[in-house]
Order: sequence, then structure tokens, then C-alpha cells
Amino acid sequence: MIASFGPGSNPLCGEVHVPGDKSLSHRAVLFSAMAEGVTRVAGVLNSADVRSTIRAVTSLGAHVMLESQPDGSLAGTIEGWGERGPQADSGLTIDCGNSGTTARLLMGVLAGWPMTVTLTGDESLSKRPMRRVIRPLEQMGATFEMNCAACGVNWTLPLAIRGSDALEPIAYESPVASAQVKSAILLAGLRAHGRTKVVEPKQSRDHTELLLPVFGVDVEVERDTCSAAVEGPATLHSAGEIVVPRDPSSAAFLTVAALVVAGSHVTLPGVSLNETRTGFLRVLDRMGARIEVVPWPQTGAERVGEIVVRHTPVLAATTVCAGEVPFLIDEVPILALVATQAHGETRFEGVGELRVKESDRLAAIVDGLTALGAVASAEDDTLIVVGPSRLRSASLDSLGDHRLAMTWAVAGFVADGAVTVQDFDAVSVSYPDFARDIALLQAEAGT
Ligand code: S3P
Repeated sequence: MIASFGPGSNPLCGEVHVPGDKSLSHRAVLFSAMAEGVTRVAGVLNSADVRSTIRAVTSLGAHVMLESQPDGSLAGTIEGWGERGPQADSGLTIDCGNSGTTARLLMGVLAGWPMTVTLTGDESLSKRPMRRVIRPLEQMGATFEMNCAACGVNWTLPLAIRGSDALEPIAYESPVASAQVKSAILLAGLRAHGRTKVVEPKQSRDHTELLLPVFGVDVEVERDTCSAAVEGPATLHSAGEIVVPRDPSSAAFLTVAALVVAGSHVTLPGVSLNETRTGFLRVLDRMGARIEVVPWPQTGAERVGEIVVRHTPVLAATTVCAGEVPFLIDEVPILALVATQAHGETRFEGVGELRVKESDRLAAIVDGLTALGAVASAEDDTLIVVGPSRLRSASLDSLGDHRLAMTWAVAGFVADGAVTVQDFDAVSVSYPDFARDIALLQAEAGT
């Protein structure tokens, strides 16, 4: 589908409930499926990515009874496979769709059970690197068969994983700061005998470390060494009830839309304020954005609160250093758009990981911003945007990448002319009702 945004926009005003957090929805579903007993889940994101995880655990024997709620979320019960383990018919193939989190976390789960499962994905996921997960899981004792094992170069989906019920614990120094890699190893570690530890070059998002204890599994976390460890074997037990907070990464698009459109004043309640996810708020604060964050009393594993955003006519450039990148990795496209409106040179250092996301986001950001008339370039792993620029009408392709689709939509509110977005449907991966929520905020201003 092609969608058109702008030129300009009515002010965005009022309150919107962004959908449930994608990272936490995957984990709530997956951990409930692994657990002994029945877990009640609520606030689960109903998007293409999370449905991939739901289909995967269902095909492995979990009983998932989730229903769509009036706010669009999924809620209900999940009865896990517990100590019985996942059940796979011979020749089972699981399609992970567009979802890297589904594929990588599932590999960690399957590594500890003696059965063979084939994992496939869409065109984008089939290009994404899996070696980062395969390497450590092989060291633990899982075996993999890849599409091009003979030539030894394609460490990508489709692949078959054969797990083992005699996994070895490992101490693994990950070359990348990736919560997907860390989570896969820790989940495999739950089936090994002994201590499995992951050390990262920089701290990545910590949802797995926060949620496993809710299922009765201890995780030893050392913030100063960026490490997390589990002691296996360990069985997950029903978490009782989990309420998934709303997604800060989705909130980031509405936050920026409100910042750049004159007269806007938007409130986003119930959003996860997990510090490993809210780097974009700290960056926007440095840029002078008028944003207030109101924490709510904590009731679950994650900090939750309200984000209140007001239009900010003058923004300053900033430098985003490599250490903060994992805390805003999914928000770089929308922050780069903000940088086109800020005074000076904004640098995003150490963002090479963007090349292996749902698209090559580093190249796509530079191409898209340049087509819009902005000044943007990439040098090695640094993205540089110089502003402020008047953006012009452009026709941009989402490249099937949900975060690019929403970034280009917001660009339409800044640009002098309309911005058309090819393959806008990609938003179904994380924020299916994005266009409706924008329209609600625009309509509110007119009432
Ligand atoms: C995710 C981790 C991040 C992030 C992705 C979701 C997760 O990927 O970009 O959208 O849920 O663990 P990496 O772990 O590869 O950095």
C-alpha cells in the first residue's frame, strides 16, 4: 500500500495509548509457553511479529488462548509445556516471518531439547545474520544445518536446529551488544548443567533479565561488566499474571510528530520507562525538547509512566555516543529525522548494527533524508545529520521496514510537500494502528 502524509499537519493534541511493547510481548508469550502451569497475559501487542511468536509456541505444544481486547491488545491465558518440553512433529517448520526476536530467542529455547526444527523467515529475515546466535549455541552443544553449509558462507535462515539434552554451560563474550543474542544464550543456559554467563561489549536491553525472575528463575546481573548469568537446569513456573506495558519505540514516533508540528501537546500513558529503552528521551532532552516524563508507581517488573510532549520550535544538535546506542537502536531513524530540524551537526556514533536490521537502515536513512532535501551522510559506523533543513516533498520506500515507514510518515508533517511512503503496510510489524492514532490526535486538535 502507498500512503501519503502531509504537507504539514494540524496540531497533534490529546492522549493516545500506543500498543504493547514488542520486545516484552515476545518474551511474555515465549516464557509463558516454556513455563509449567498457566500464565495470564494482558496488554500483548497484536502485531505481525508477535503473532509469529504465538504461532511458533503453539506449533511447539503451548496452549495459547488469547483474545483481542477493545484497545486492540491481546489478553488471555497461555499454558506452557513446562518440564515436558516443547513437542515437535518430525519435519516441523516454523515460519518466523519478519521477526528477528522470534527466530533468535526460539533458537535459544530449542537448543536444549533433542529434536530437529526448521526455521524460516521472510525475505528480510532470511538476509539477517544468525551466526551471532549459532556460534555460542554450537559451543553449548546444539547443531545447525544451514541452507548453504557446503560453501560455509550463509549463516542465515532457513536453517534446521537440532537441540541436545546435554548442553554445556558457557561463559560467552558476545562481539555484539544484542539483547536477542544475550537472551538466546541465557534461555539455552536454563537447560545446561551449571552457570551460563554472557558478557556484552555494551549493555543491551534487559527485559529477559527482568522477566525471568517473574517466572521463578534467578538471573545474576552485573551492570558494570555488562554481564548476565543463569544457573541451570532451571524450570520456569507460571508468572501468575503479566501486564505488558506500552511500547516506548512506538511512542517515539508520536513523540517526534508532536515535537515538530506547531501547536501540538500529546500525552502517552502507560509506556515502559525501562532505562535500556528510553535513550531516545535522554537524547531529545539534550536537544532541548519540551518533554515531561511522569513515572507511575511500579507494579510489575518494568518501570512504567506517562510521556507528555509539547511542540518545540528550536532544537539543538547533539552527539549520540556509541555507549548509548543500544538504548535507542530502534529509534535512530526517527531521531535522525529530528536532527534535520536541529541547529548544528548531530552525530550518531557506533551505529553499524543498523546495517543488519529489518533493512540496511543506515543506507536507507541517508538516502531518504537526502531525497527529502536534508544533509545526511554515513562515515564508517557514524551517521551525521546537519540541520536545520527545509524538507521537501518526496516519494520514499519503507523497504518493508516498519520503523522506516513511520519515520517517513512523520517526515510528511515537516516537509513543504506531501511525502508518499511505498509499502506503508510494513507498520503491521509493530504498530498496525499508527495512521489511525495520528489521525485521532489531529482530529482532537480540531474539536
Ligand atoms: C530486540 C532487540 C534489539 C532490537 C529489536 C528487538 C529484542 O535487537 O533492535 O527490535 O526484543 O531483544 P538486537 O538484540 O539484535 O540489538
